[in-house]
Amino acid sequence: MYQHVTPYLGDPILSLVETFVNDKRAHKVNLSIGIYFDNEGKMPLPESVRKAAAEIGVKAQSYLPMEGHTGLREELAKLVLGDEHAAITEKRVAVVQSLGGSGALKLGADFLKKWFGQSKAYISAPTWDNHRGIFEGAGFEVGTYPYYDAQTIGIKFAEMTAFFNTLPENSIVILHPCCHNPTGVDLTPAQWDEVLEIVKTRKLIAFMDIAYLGFGDSFAEDAYAVRRAADLGIALFVSASFSKNMSLYGERVGGLLVVTPNEAEKELVLGQLKAGVRRIYSSPSAHGGLTAYGVLSNPARKQAWQAEVYQMRDRIKAMRQKLYETLSQMLPEKDFSYFIKQRGMFSYTGLSPEQVQRLQDEFAIYILQSGRLCVAGLNDGNIDYVAQSLAKVFANQ
Ligand code: LMR
Repeated sequence: MYQHVTPYLGDPILSLVETFVNDKRAHKVNLSIGIYFDNEGKMPLPESVRKAAAEIGVKAQSYLPMEGHTGLREELAKLVLGDEHAAITEKRVAVVQSLGGSGALKLGADFLKKWFGQSKAYISAPTWDNHRGIFEGAGFEVGTYPYYDAQTIGIKFAEMTAFFNTLPENSIVILHPCCHNPTGVDLTPAQWDEVLEIVKTRKLIAFMDIAYLGFGDSFAEDAYAVRRAADLGIALFVSASFSKNMSLYGERVGGLLVVTPNEAEKELVLGQLKAGVRRIYSSPSAHGGLTAYGVLSNPARKQAWQAEVYQMRDRIKAMRQKLYETLSQMLPEKDFSYFIKQRGMFSYTGLSPEQVQRLQDEFAIYILQSGRLCVAGLNDGNIDYVAQSLAKVFANQ
């Protein structure tokens, strides 16, 4: 019956986590998946989020509407676009609470395939693997645009803009407004201005994945590209997530925002997004939605939460600094400054797949085959071991 079913080759992130879990070595270190762990190696629940969750009680028992919790949807738009953004006051942002950032990407991709079926989607080279998976899964042909420059450990900016200038109207470009996954290399605000001008002139559709909001700079700075795109009137989709910044990974809570030209079109888009939700999973998580709402709707708590996110961000930065210093001391001939320049949870180490495999086999340190290392998994207890092991692998000793 099922002999024709092709085997699943696994996911480069989630399947590696399975291998890590099954690894019996006590000193193993997981620097693969994008999860924030604290200095004790534990997944923290921010105090602000804990308080919000404690208030829910039986309120999460019933179904939420297809589009999710109304208050959360409003708060999410304000968080991403800024409280007073014209798109919000003019009621032209369609917002749907989703199953994490992946759910938002899937809903948006399905919507776009249905209503812009001729478009092609373009992802950065490289990107989070599931961008390709989700857009191909929705039926798109997926191409790549130039992004990361391994020579400079920067961005192939001229090539990227030249490529965007070749794209036909309604092409979908998937962008990372902050904390690029997997490289940690972001565009500057001035570069965003240039890219978004092209997106506007060529009438492209910008799909921005802002899963790591708050882990680069401030919330407002991390949302710069999104807000600028909305200011420019660009066709804009945003997938947001509370997995990382509220540490609500398993609750599967995030949202999709679509900034439209006017309220009437907003209603049309929202209606079709609701239809999409109904067809796939009916309605989103009430517990996750109420928790996130409980944080964002209380101004003092929202402020406390943002401060907690900044603490996580700063701990990651401190780990970057330590890694940079230790490696520079051990291998002074090599330039490791990229560790402190890259932003967000990830560092693209430049290690080859063979070196990555050696790290795993010999040292029980897990990073992605692409060389992506999750800095948020480092702590005072493992950083020396990781730095020393990395130094051996970098030196091919
Ligand atoms: C990651 O990139 O590691 C995270 O976004 C987790 C995931 O779902 O892949």
